[in-house]
Amino acid sequence: MSRQKRIGVLTSGGDCAGLNAVLRAVVHRAVEGYGWQVVGIHNGTAGLLARPVDAEVLDLGIFDGNLLRRGGTILGTTNKGDPFDFPMADGRRIDRSEEVIEGYRQLDLDALIGIGGDGSQDILRRLAQQGGIDLITLPKTIDNDLGHTEVSIGYATAVKIATDALDQLQPTAASHSRVMVLEVMGRDAGHIAIGAGIAGGADVILIPEIGYSLEGIARKIESLKARGRNFALVVVAEAVKTETGDAVRQVQGDGSSTYGGVGQYLAARIAEETGSETRVTVLGHLQRGGPPTDHDRLMASVFGVYAVDLIAAGRFDRMVAWSGRQVVDIPITDAIAGYKAVDIAGPLVRTAQGLGIYLGELPEDSEGARTGRVAESVGS
Ligand code: F6P
Repeated sequence: MSRQKRIGVLTSGGDCAGLNAVLRAVVHRAVEGYGWQVVGIHNGTAGLLARPVDAEVLDLGIFDGNLLRRGGTILGTTNKGDPFDFPMADGRRIDRSEEVIEGYRQLDLDALIGIGGDGSQDILRRLAQQGGIDLITLPKTIDNDLGHTEVSIGYATAVKIATDALDQLQPTAASHSRVMVLEVMGRDAGHIAIGAGIAGGADVILIPEIGYSLEGIARKIESLKARGRNFALVVVAEAVKTETGDAVRQVQGDGSSTYGGVGQYLAARIAEETGSETRVTVLGHLQRGGPPTDHDRLMASVFGVYAVDLIAAGRFDRMVAWSGRQVVDIPITDAIAGYKAVDIAGPLVRTAQGLGIYLGELPEDSEGARTGRVAESVGS
């Protein structure tokens, strides 16, 4: 009798809503559809570095409760500890990739599903190439910056949470005649900011892809006041720089740094420039942990089932993607290489301009600038 097939699954990088829904779909399809066993590896590649290897068999029963609805990942994850450049306690950085591959071999797996963003997928692919691992990846990132897929798990929920925050801030802004600044995540891309800003009725949306001026922001706020509006909503993506071009970052105990603080900077500058009372809300990790939206659950389910079907078909080194209303698969290398910032000539930028939102000073050759929409939005 042939041995039962065993596949591994891990979550890697920052957590986000919808990861448990992916795991549920993978386990359902593999166990019920093909009669395979699924091994969940804990804490991304850290689980494969641990000895004994840190992993558990995932039974269908685990998913009978409310996991479809729960944020986070039951497997745990990490966005630190690149095995090719691993930080040791004594300060050295060493290559531990062979140990990870050895850990994978100890689990006696036939294939691996890695759920991660571009950084995680890059690491997993290098491990797969080096160790002969049959790998499939699934796109997840609240930042929505992976190329070649119209959907990454976690983005829809992050946008919903940021939109809800604007819904909650608006009444207080109006009651107290304030400018409310909402700082959102997104790493180097402005997808969350522009999505939530449009959906949540922001007056100013600042994204790293477009430079801005304080005069431009002030003009927008003054124009609102001139037509009788007593408040304004400003959304700023965490990677937006100061006027002098400096990134605003928080230094951590280990010397590394993360984005954070540009909202505070802007609120102070807007207060100086316009005389408005300003307040700041930094949404931070609230954008990652909530229950997944219906859209994230749906896509997580589609991606999870399809990933297992790819393994059954023997198609490896592929990332599952959503394109043109279809689930498809593309080479992982294409996905990693296709970093996707906000398209400044794309539909969301045009929509924001059409709504009179101040987005910054768009370059002359962008579509919006050509049609004169920038001037209209600043002056509206
Ligand atoms: O990539 C997801 C993300 O949430 C970014 O939007 C953010 O810059 C970063 O991770 C925060 O990382 P950490 O959880 O390490 O603070």
